[in-house]
Amino acid sequence: MIHVILFRNVNILGNYIHIKSMAEIGTNLSKASRLLKNNELVAIPTETVYGLAGNALDPTAIAKIYTTKNRPSFDPLITHVKNITDASTLVHPFPKLAHKLAEQFWPGPLTLLLPKRKHVPDLLTSGLEKMAIRVPDHPITLKLLKQINFPLAAPSANPFGYISPTTSEHVCHQLGEKIPYIIEGGSAQIGLESTIVSIEGKIICIHRLGGLDLEKLQTFGDVIIRNYKGVNPNGPGQLDSHYAPKKKFIIGNLNDLLLKYSNLKVGILSFSKTYSNSNKNIVLSKNGDVNEAAENFFSALRTLDTEDIDLILGEYVPKKGIGKAINDRLKRAAYI
Ligand code: TXA
Ligand code: MG
Repeated sequence: MIHVILFRNVNILGNYIHIKSMAEIGTNLSKASRLLKNNELVAIPTETVYGLAGNALDPTAIAKIYTTKNRPSFDPLITHVKNITDASTLVHPFPKLAHKLAEQFWPGPLTLLLPKRKHVPDLLTSGLEKMAIRVPDHPITLKLLKQINFPLAAPSANPFGYISPTTSEHVCHQLGEKIPYIIEGGSAQIGLESTIVSIEGKIICIHRLGGLDLEKLQTFGDVIIRNYKGVNPNGPGQLDSHYAPKKKFIIGNLNDLLLKYSNLKVGILSFSKTYSNSNKNIVLSKNGDVNEAAENFFSALRTLDTEDIDLILGEYVPKKGIGKAINDRLKRAAYI
């Protein structure tokens, strides 16, 4: 009689199998702090999207973020702090107008581009003189920032170029094998990344449309939107193709597109109208509310990307409030 003994991590042929452990999901902040202090990465919830966090002042942790995300090193990271006082220890000068915006909108979905102080690692900013900084508006992440005594670098917790995560499950699905811990913080309340701005004299310059409406910024001065084209090292979130599903994604008039692609299996991402009774039509907001649409957007795109369909069809949403930022993501997600 032949006895087959299977050892852990060894298959029947005697080859080693690499068993990867999955990230733990939980709310143990002591554990998260300990890991971060040891230069490990932890995924954190924010009001915009989940972030992949590491010590912003330690090049080892920063380098880990780039490799874990498969992110090109020319794409700088956003730093998260608990308040304006902590931000002031990292940037200088902090112009009056930027300070006013921070007072008004932090914690919240506003990222400021400000000159970094010397001790801030160049790797964090990909060699740029300015760093991107914000105070996230999520109670558990603010609590974590209070427990540790360093700022957190945190890009969205997705592989580079793919759809941003708005739940802990999204993070676990894509990066679960690469990181030890994900802090559970529920579904992201806003659902789109922060608005990134720099201050040019008296002008507020938007580098990325996002969770903070342009209209709210306009009450503080003239606002311009930087239009990046192609590959731009100063704003890779502005790359033509970003936030993209794996399936082909086409945006236009849904009635026309449905006719044109009637021979294919399609998934539909519509704003407020229902086009099909199948679960392959996700309606972002039945009430036509752009904020609700933003909250559902990345999750809906991710769901359609896993459906048994040939392509995804979508439409632009009304250009009011956060609608402009949704349209920006739609355009880049559909770019080929
Ligand atoms: O809402 C958010 O901003 C989320 C959460 C986690 O805070 N973070 C986020 O990070 O969206 P990320 O890395 O996915 O996008 C940051 C964008 C990138 O397009 C990057 O190029 C740009 O910010 N960025 C970062 N630092 C910059 C800098 N110094 N100058 C210009 N752009 C910068
Ligand atoms: Mg991102």
